[in-house]
Amino acid sequence: MKNRSLGFVGGGRVARIILEGFRRKGFEFAEVVVSDVSEEALARIRGHYPGARTCLGDNKAPAACDLIFLALHPPACGAALDEIRGILRPEAVLISLAPKVTIVRLSERLGGFSRVVRMIPNAPSLVGAGYNPVAFSLTLEDRDRAAITGVLAALGECPEVPEKDLEAYAILAAMGPTYFWFQWEELERLGAGFGLSSEEVRKALAATVSGAAQAYFQSGLPAEEVMDLIPVKPLKDDEEDIRSKYRLRLNPLYDKIKP
Ligand SMILES: NC(=O)c1ccc[n+]([C@@H]2O[C@H](COP(=O)([O-])OP(=O)(O)OC[C@H]3O[C@@H](n4cnc5c(N)ncnc54)[C@H](OP(=O)(O)O)[C@@H]3O)[C@@H](O)[C@H]2O)c1
Repeated sequence: MKNRSLGFVGGGRVARIILEGFRRKGFEFAEVVVSDVSEEALARIRGHYPGARTCLGDNKAPAACDLIFLALHPPACGAALDEIRGILRPEAVLISLAPKVTIVRLSERLGGFSRVVRMIPNAPSLVGAGYNPVAFSLTLEDRDRAAITGVLAALGECPEVPEKDLEAYAILAAMGPTYFWFQWEELERLGAGFGLSSEEVRKALAATVSGAAQAYFQSGLPAEEVMDLIPVKPLKDDEEDIRSKYRLRLNPLYDKIKP
């Protein structure tokens, strides 16, 4: 990586997640360039990665790098793509992290530049444990795909999936941690109230969450049997309400982000 430059158009949460994932794996780049419209966002980037060059309101600078992440929400993508059209080097690769904006649309808006990848990142990439499905432009050769996958592997699993499935992964994987994290935080508070130290609570919860996932996904038992392993269920009366909230919130969200 040492001879390749890394650019981020958009220096918000996901830029920080990916930079931290690379940092933890010891990846070094010739240069890291990050643009944003927010000085606050860029100050946070500089705070975490003092070596990064930050560019306020100038997306052309990161677009001139070898590997560029387009780290913007879908409504901001069109204008940014217009801004960087013609700046991208012929050998560069642009990885868009946004749902909804297809490879065909990205390429059209970039004046035919077709070295485009889409990835749906998820936050555990911060610690190299992400599940980040990718879809490649048809024009990218196997050699290019292998090189890109090699870099992205620093962030965790990066399975190649059909582009049409990316938004499903955005709901399940990218947003997935948000369905659980606040509940762990609440249990952490309760555990402290029961008199356990923070270290004891966190150790028990981390093992429980990991073990519960393994029992659910790896025991070979049907879901109903796994869930029947524990007879006392303090939240049983709230379950249907919670399940209906998932359906109520996530189905319309999926419809909204689908191209
Ligand atoms: N965070 C995740 O875990 C995650 C997971 C999956 C996918 N993604 C996708 O990644 C993309 C970025 O998400 P994020 O979480 O990083 O969002 P974010 O934290 O809101 O960061 C986006 C940054 O882009 C800035 N921005 C807006 N318009 C811009 C422009 N024209 N040029 C340069 N910068 C601009 C925003 O500034 P202002 O806030 O001032 O507008 C903000 O600082 C989205 O498409 C999202 O769906 C994120």
